Amino acid sequence: MGRKKIVAGNWKMNTTLNEALDLASGIKNNTNNTDVIIFPPFPFLKTIIDSFKTINGFYVGAQNCNANSKGAFTGEVSAHMLSSIGCDYIMVGHSERRQYFKETNEELLAKINQALEHNLKVIFCFGEQLQERKNNQHFNTVETQLNEVLIHLPKDKLSNLILAYEPVWAIGTGETASPEQAQEMHAFIRSVIATLFSNTIANDMCILYGGSCNAQNARELFAGKDVDGGLIGGASLKIEDFTTIIHSFT
Ligand code: PGA
Repeated sequence: MGRKKIVAGNWKMNTTLNEALDLASGIKNNTNNTDVIIFPPFPFLKTIIDSFKTINGFYVGAQNCNANSKGAFTGEVSAHMLSSIGCDYIMVGHSERRQYFKETNEELLAKINQALEHNLKVIFCFGEQLQERKNNQHFNTVETQLNEVLIHLPKDKLSNLILAYEPVWAIGTGETASPEQAQEMHAFIRSVIATLFSNTIANDMCILYGGSCNAQNARELFAGKDVDGGLIGGASLKIEDFTTIIHSFT
């Protein structure tokens, strides 16, 4: 894929169908040369894909998939299903999935493999808890989260992976990592990727920041040389704010 500027919107469990269509339409009409990925809820994916996915640089992703390929898993959605409706991306490892649904690194790895097998791209999320940062353990935590999952992925598929560093203490809290904290961690992540794979793979990897990124602070956060864009929660539900964020690269 190569290094690009990317802004992704994680809508979580929000919007009705009509709200989702209005939001997608408003976002699509305001894109520039930044890649935009929206993650609507499952029931609206196919309608949004059919209605809006006609321009370059505008992508649609699912917020989750099951770790198995198919079968008796009532209520679950497979990567194969998502690829069959024209999805581009699957988000894996969001802290809410780790926390509320107890997803382990092993399960996350299986989900990523499912997505990659079906030619979907992946945004892989990770980040430290508040206590870990307070104890100065944040680098260790992130390194472990990366090591336990990425090392097992096929090297030739790594170009289908985007990383999203999301400190858990910043998600939905209004408290953002400072631009310096974000840049410092992104540079560290790139060094971990270089050690695991190679400098070339590390330099080509897109690394997004997520956690209370909004229309006011996006420009400063995205100015970090290792920050390739953002994964936006709350502010991705407002057309104006999300548009401002898409235009926040200098
Ligand atoms: P937030 O969420 O922007 O509302 O903090 C980010 C995320 O959960 O990806």
